[in-house]
Amino acid sequence: MIGIFDSGSGGLSVLREIIKILPEEKYAYYADNAFCPYGEKTPEFIRERGRTITDFLLEKGADIIVVACNTATAAAISSLRSEYPVKFIGMEPAVKPAALSSATGVIGVLATAGTLKGSKYLTTKGLYEDDVKIVERVGKGFVELVEKGILEGPEAEATVRESLVPLLDAGADRIVLGCTHYPFLINVIRKLAWPGVKIIDPAPAVARHLTEVMVTEGLVRKDGGPVLPDIGIYASGDDSSARRLLSLILEEDNLKIKDN
Ligand code: DGL
Repeated sequence: MIGIFDSGSGGLSVLREIIKILPEEKYAYYADNAFCPYGEKTPEFIRERGRTITDFLLEKGADIIVVACNTATAAAISSLRSEYPVKFIGMEPAVKPAALSSATGVIGVLATAGTLKGSKYLTTKGLYEDDVKIVERVGKGFVELVEKGILEGPEAEATVRESLVPLLDAGADRIVLGCTHYPFLINVIRKLAWPGVKIIDPAPAVARHLTEVMVTEGLVRKDGGPVLPDIGIYASGDDSSARRLLSLILEEDNLKIKDN
């Protein structure tokens, strides 16, 4: 079973890519929405939540865990890896593909404050900032919109505009989505972005990496498993927002899952 967690529903944007590649697996998704957002929380707090959630997912039967949250990856993945015997797959802000493909030589990164301060991001950024100019903004209010299920319309546009326009004004022609909640606002981001601007979401690459690790570790189901993905949704708060968003994804992608 694949365990997945995020501060809320954002990690479903990663689950969405994973089930396209591994449709016959069992999944337990945990939305830590009683403590959302993680963006401004201390790394110690996020590490503690990471432990509690990992214990829960292992209890459910997870044999690999996807930290489908950039902020939690930055704060907690190293300690989780040293404390638990299972493999953890984390998020990487997609600075590399953005830097390598930018024509203007300016890339924009949207992420939470925690991610932008994290050593992982700073190291990656250090590898490319001699070649391209990297401009950053916290997607202020983005996580809250997604948790409320507001994915388009005037409120979403006003909120997205505030963080996106400074990146476009700086000349960015690549926008890296460095928070797993942000892909749910992609329609608004696309609508507001200028022609030629590409939005880069690392989720498909993370899903491919997870698959490679599962093949290497012998974790891919071989027992004929369910034909449809079997997805359990759990939350520390009200689980209705995660369930709503999951239904939306399944409808958009024309996918069915096993009834739980
Ligand atoms: N979805 C998260 C991320 O990828 C967390 C956002 C938050 O809770 O602030 O960073």
